[in-house]
Amino acid sequence: MLRSADCGALRGENDGEQVTLAGWIGRRRDHGGIIFLDLRDRSGIAQVVFNPETAADAARIAEEVRPEWVIQVKGTVNRRPAGSENPAIATGDVEVMATEITVLNRSLTPPFYIDDDAEADESLRLRYRYLDLRRPPMLRNLTLRHNVVKYIRDFLCERDFLEIETPILIKSTPEGARDFLVPSRMQPGNFYALPQSPQQMKQLLMVAGVERYFQIARCFRDEDLRADRQLEFTQLDLEMSFVEEDDILNLTEELYTGMIESVTPDKNLRKPFPRISYDEAMDRYASDKPDLRFGLQMTDVTDLASESEFRVFLSTIDGGGRIKGFVAPGQAQFVTGQVKELEDTAKAAGAGGLVHIRYRGEGPVGQQTPEEIVQSAGLRMPVEWHQRLAERMGAGPGDLVLLMAGRQPRLNAWLTVMRTHMGELLKLPDPNELAFAFVTRFPLFDWNEDAKRWDSSHHPFTSPADGEEGELDGENLGAIKSKAYDLVCNGSELASGSIRIHNRQLQEKIFGILGHSKEATEAQFGQILEAFEYGAPPHGGIAPGIDRLVAILCGSSSIRDVIAFPKTQSGTDLLFNAPTSVAQSQLDELCLRVVERPD
Ligand code: AMO
Repeated sequence: MLRSADCGALRGENDGEQVTLAGWIGRRRDHGGIIFLDLRDRSGIAQVVFNPETAADAARIAEEVRPEWVIQVKGTVNRRPAGSENPAIATGDVEVMATEITVLNRSLTPPFYIDDDAEADESLRLRYRYLDLRRPPMLRNLTLRHNVVKYIRDFLCERDFLEIETPILIKSTPEGARDFLVPSRMQPGNFYALPQSPQQMKQLLMVAGVERYFQIARCFRDEDLRADRQLEFTQLDLEMSFVEEDDILNLTEELYTGMIESVTPDKNLRKPFPRISYDEAMDRYASDKPDLRFGLQMTDVTDLASESEFRVFLSTIDGGGRIKGFVAPGQAQFVTGQVKELEDTAKAAGAGGLVHIRYRGEGPVGQQTPEEIVQSAGLRMPVEWHQRLAERMGAGPGDLVLLMAGRQPRLNAWLTVMRTHMGELLKLPDPNELAFAFVTRFPLFDWNEDAKRWDSSHHPFTSPADGEEGELDGENLGAIKSKAYDLVCNGSELASGSIRIHNRQLQEKIFGILGHSKEATEAQFGQILEAFEYGAPPHGGIAPGIDRLVAILCGSSSIRDVIAFPKTQSGTDLLFNAPTSVAQSQLDELCLRVVERPD
């Protein structure tokens, strides 16, 4: 070994010990000829002191070294003189008096300073990712990710799960997102697809009798990227046989609580995880991934709104829309400029506008004067109406009421923007709190207005809820509930899963409703339909996204911060400069020709 101790491990009790350290040079200071170097390795930073009077050769070299050079240092650990301790770092009580220094490697001047603050532009950080990852917060993120995955593995192995790898080159099937395709050299004109998830494979493993499977699985989806989406990402993919929904949810909850208490014990984790139905989540929070760290719950006031003469309300209700909103407690003092800012946020989200009411009087709403009730122009409702509205919505003196009018599902989407915005404005969510919830009983199908067809709201392998199978022959397909569930946390979807269909006839019927012809179903899903005829056990599973979970645990707003080598928003790897064109000979081998993209 080139070293005897880790920089970050030195403490007062090591006083007097001889050590050899190795690492990168951080800051370098010269105090009247005595040189101080911050030496950094993965474990932390140690201060190394070079005194020309006691170690002349070493001090001479220490004068020449520069940031990010790699050095080896021999010396003695000393307690720092009283008053010069540095409580900001773990090794702040000690310093190493160097006797020898060896330069192991030099470094060019890095394009950005390697320290805790990510001040450099993200594209520069991604271009020099190996330097960016050298920064302590990034190494901490990677460490936390490792600890999360290790906890998962240990937890599931203790419970008899088998970790099984499934192929990366599979068949392209329509499952939601766009597939990445890989041309076959041996079968020109044919393509493999990279898995969007190992969904069919894990179900086939249940037919195979594996009973409890998991995999830390890489998934690939060619979709537009956002802060919480990458082209390739990692799931804990999990499947179990002979289980019901509660078994999967209980196991997931036990895994998450144990993991979080082990890897991030300082987080304020709310337990137990509430389980709310999709309908309840949409009614109360206007979202299927509500942030439960704060209230601002929704109330539908369509009936009260219909009593007004406000044109926006009446035409919305006539057109089949609803009027819904929430109370911001104690915010009646919002001034016109603040209300205007709220309206602008609503409009930016696509809404026509935002109705506000401010109960500025001190007495109960029913006793406030018309002057004390400040309402959006056009509303002009009497005090008696406000009394009923306030009662319904739980509003009182000093409160601000916000209402929006529109058709679903857009109305809920706008309300979610406003709820999140108001939450942030009032600093309601506690950044240290983790408020998980399971959202259950999702609809089986969503109506796709653009394509004029039904889509699976989860995926086609999801079982209808108990007692709902008969409705598949009816008219009201949008009302059918499923055995799909999500795990959400602080407003993000962290995991999705379901109890699956394990019967060929039912599975074929679902494909029929989704608009697949018999032939297309057979060609694309024949393998799993056939397997269902050979004794498929009842089964179900879940797939937590690892990147999103780790980002939340690290307090990062982007999953790029918890992925070693992520892609940019436009899908580019700035370090390797991928994607790129390839040699003509490679294309020839694959019998491929590149053409201009048609407009
Ligand atoms: P689903 O498609 O909902 O379900 O994905 C499960 C979880 O994976 C994460 N996730 C992503 N993370 C980063 N970038 C992406 N592009 C991305 N897409 C999804 C999310 C999400 O909750 N096979 C089913 C699961 C099942 O039914 O068992 C599936 O993949 O955290």
